[in-house]
Amino acid sequence: VDNMDPPSRAEMFDFHGVCMTQNFTNTWESVQNFKARPDDILIATYPKAGTTWVSNILDLLHFGWMPSERQTTIPLYDRVPFLEICVPNMHSGIDQANNLTTSPRLIKTHFPVQFVPESFWEQKCKMIYVARNAKDNMVSYFHFECMSMVSPDPGSWSSYMQRFMKGKLVFGSWYDHVKGWWEKKRTYPNLHYMFYEDMVEDTGREIDQLSSFLGLSTSAKEKENILNEVLFDNMKKNKMTNYSSFPVMDFKISPFMRKGKVGDWKNHFTVAQNEEFDEDYKKQMKDPTLQFRTEI
Ligand code: A3P
Repeated sequence: VDNMDPPSRAEMFDFHGVCMTQNFTNTWESVQNFKARPDDILIATYPKAGTTWVSNILDLLHFGWMPSERQTTIPLYDRVPFLEICVPNMHSGIDQANNLTTSPRLIKTHFPVQFVPESFWEQKCKMIYVARNAKDNMVSYFHFECMSMVSPDPGSWSSYMQRFMKGKLVFGSWYDHVKGWWEKKRTYPNLHYMFYEDMVEDTGREIDQLSSFLGLSTSAKEKENILNEVLFDNMKKNKMTNYSSFPVMDFKISPFMRKGKVGDWKNHFTVAQNEEFDEDYKKQMKDPTLQFRTEI
């Protein structure tokens, strides 16, 4: 559109101890005052951990796959609003969430656990957290920030790795994020904590677990349809799930549906970087109960 200013790369700042940008703090007050309903479902992730994948699964589990009008005409990012997003020339996530007319409302967030609005806890909403192994998560985030014109400039790969280890990326430290949500799991039974690598290993098993967590009965036929629909190649082809209509992203630099693989970090880390990263990782991830697949 001619009369719009080109999107500008965001500046990061410390926000209650977490690195954030205005795109996710502009609507802080209304986000914190959000009135969750008991049947709302919150999908929480550190950015690039598989949010879109699990969002699509949940949407299909709840609203069926025929293909229905919902799934063929409404982009996934409109079906599952991103609670805290507020970028110029777009509806804010909070407005979208408040305007949803279908239920249950599926809402996504990248907030660390301590930023989640109080009403979600009060209403005992079901929440799904997806974690992804640190190295692949970082690689995916790096490529995303290269192509997302409203993200901070990612800089060089090696400087990016340093910032990742220090937690100086938007939404803060990956380590604090995955650990904070893991800690919550101990006291909040309505939280289902899952892993991207498990979804890659056996998507059907993960769908069964989601379905049972959500108290849904999913027929074999429905599951088969969903499994097909959420294959990486099919989501990449599907204009309603591949973000091709989303503004502020430059697909010439990188597609949103980039590789969808486990272990792509091996194509990015040097041997020395890997050693430095592993050493730091051991210090930051001491909790032996955390089931992360570090061997990947
Ligand atoms: P890569 O950049 O490694 O390819 P998010 O949705 O949280 O932004 O995460 C995006 C990452 O999930 C990207 O990782 C993307 O390709 C991957 N992804 C999205 N849909 C997927 C699917 N159906 N199967 C496997 N990976 C998927």
